[in-house]
Amino acid sequence: MAVRIIREEGDEILRKKSREVEVVDDKIRELLDDMVETMHKYNGVGLAAVQVGILKRIIVIDIYDGKGPLKLINPVIIKQKGEQEVEEGCLSFPNKYAKMLRPAEVTVEALDENGKKIKIHGKELLAQALCHEIDHLNGIVFVDNMIPGTLEYVEPEKNV
Ligand code: NI
Repeated sequence: MAVRIIREEGDEILRKKSREVEVVDDKIRELLDDMVETMHKYNGVGLAAVQVGILKRIIVIDIYDGKGPLKLINPVIIKQKGEQEVEEGCLSFPNKYAKMLRPAEVTVEALDENGKKIKIHGKELLAQALCHEIDHLNGIVFVDNMIPGTLEYVEPEKNV
């Protein structure tokens, strides 16, 4: 396992669309482990592969609820419900936070690290993190959808 370098605001790769993973192999599992290690090192709640420079549809999330990190491949939101106003940050935008609207609940279909199809249902912070990370796979970053005028600089604490 290794901590990877996080691409930051201004890096064009963050604007690119990631490609689907066709085969879940050891290389993908190694990337997932590295992404988890990188996310934990920087106290993030989530990380997308594009943020470590790899344009594959892979995300990791840890909302620190004791259930351990989620490792998702080719995630797709198949259902969403309600709305929540949240404060959001991103490991690629250190010290920046903004308010935005996200669905209150989402259901996501993905492959797990063994290539098995799984379904995740998330509310509140988990719903927010799933939406944020899946946006990254489409070249979308949180400031694109923030409520205008809410961007602020604060000490890093809960980066998504
Ligand atoms: Ni992010």
